[in-house]
Amino acid sequence: MGFCSNGTEESELYHAQIHLYKHVYNFVSSMALKSAMELGIADAIHSHGEPMTLFELASALKLHHSKVCVLHRFLRLLTHNGFFTKTTVASRKEGGGGGEEETVYDLTPPSTLLIRSKSTCLAPIVKGALHSSSLDMWHFSEKWFTEDKELTLYESATGESFWGFLNKATESDTLGMFQDAMAADSRMFKMALEECKHVFEGLGSLVDVGGGNGALTRLINEAFPHLKCTVFDQPHVVANLTGTENLNFVGGDMFKSIPSADAVLLKWILHDWNDELSVKILKKCKEAISGKGKEGKVIIIDIAIDETNDDRELTGLKLDYDLVMLTMFNGKERERKEWEKLIYDAGFSSYNITPICGFKSLIQLYP
Ligand SMILES: C[S@@+](CC[C@H](N)C(=O)[O-])C[C@H]1O[C@@H](n2cnc3c(N)ncnc32)[C@H](O)[C@@H]1O
Repeated sequence: MGFCSNGTEESELYHAQIHLYKHVYNFVSSMALKSAMELGIADAIHSHGEPMTLFELASALKLHHSKVCVLHRFLRLLTHNGFFTKTTVASRKEGGGGGEEETVYDLTPPSTLLIRSKSTCLAPIVKGALHSSSLDMWHFSEKWFTEDKELTLYESATGESFWGFLNKATESDTLGMFQDAMAADSRMFKMALEECKHVFEGLGSLVDVGGGNGALTRLINEAFPHLKCTVFDQPHVVANLTGTENLNFVGGDMFKSIPSADAVLLKWILHDWNDELSVKILKKCKEAISGKGKEGKVIIIDIAIDETNDDRELTGLKLDYDLVMLTMFNGKERERKEWEKLIYDAGFSSYNITPICGFKSLIQLYP
């Protein structure tokens, strides 16, 4: 296209250019968010108790004075991205009553989720999802696409599975980081539990399969103290965890056998596995609840892609998650009809599905 081509074509091209550049540099926004989390900007504003100036923030964060202007530029992007607000207020400095003004930064609902002292803190998710162990593999995708092997991108890049990497004794800090991220995600469930009490009412026992360090089961146990809960996970994951009277930890392999209970809970489990292995897990769940007859159930908390009813932002998040599951585990996020196939292939007779916790779904399966 030359300089004289028609305006529409040019404007379309420029828009396309902006669109492409925006997607190329999306990682900068992600990494700036990670920096904000590492620096503890949200914690600093929260403990200060009121909006802070740039200099107050830099001093609270103990930054080198040469980095004040760097902080300003990070805050400009983070504010643009909705993590902070920037307002001009009358100066609060002593002797500043003479009409002087200052610019202050405050928290927004998304940055409130980075405050470490709050139970809704998602900083461990930011840390885990943007850790080099999750990101480096993407540099190997070209090689991966040309390979005739059923390897995940992670395996193709590193020579081992992500589970293998997590489970290596020497990488126990990474296992801890992964479990902390999962636990942070589970604590968000606290509010949702209020709305879905009916899901657990009437149950005598529950086994949380792949329940990690038990963050979700502890919340359920607090809400239903009489429910006998078991957190079931790989032996090394639950090895040093201690329970309470109605919460115990059991190590094992969900592909072999799952402890019996009235209900089985699977949160963030099936999206880690392909359809064949997911059906295997679901069949083991069905065996585990067989003692309860038709009253037993399996409760799944996972993503359901719904491009028709979800807005673009929500669908985008679900599709991003799908590629994370694909590249790390050969897992997948499923559309409703894919869930339905899985559920019936595993021998369940009915199910219902409802949205929960913003972007997840609660799926109840009945034998
Ligand atoms: C994505 S995490 C989900 C953790 C937890 N349900 C949550 O949402 O916070 C998957 C969990 O499955 C566990 N897991 C993987 N393979 C397993 C197996 N064969 N048997 C039991 N648990 C397993 C992992 O150790 C991990 O804790």
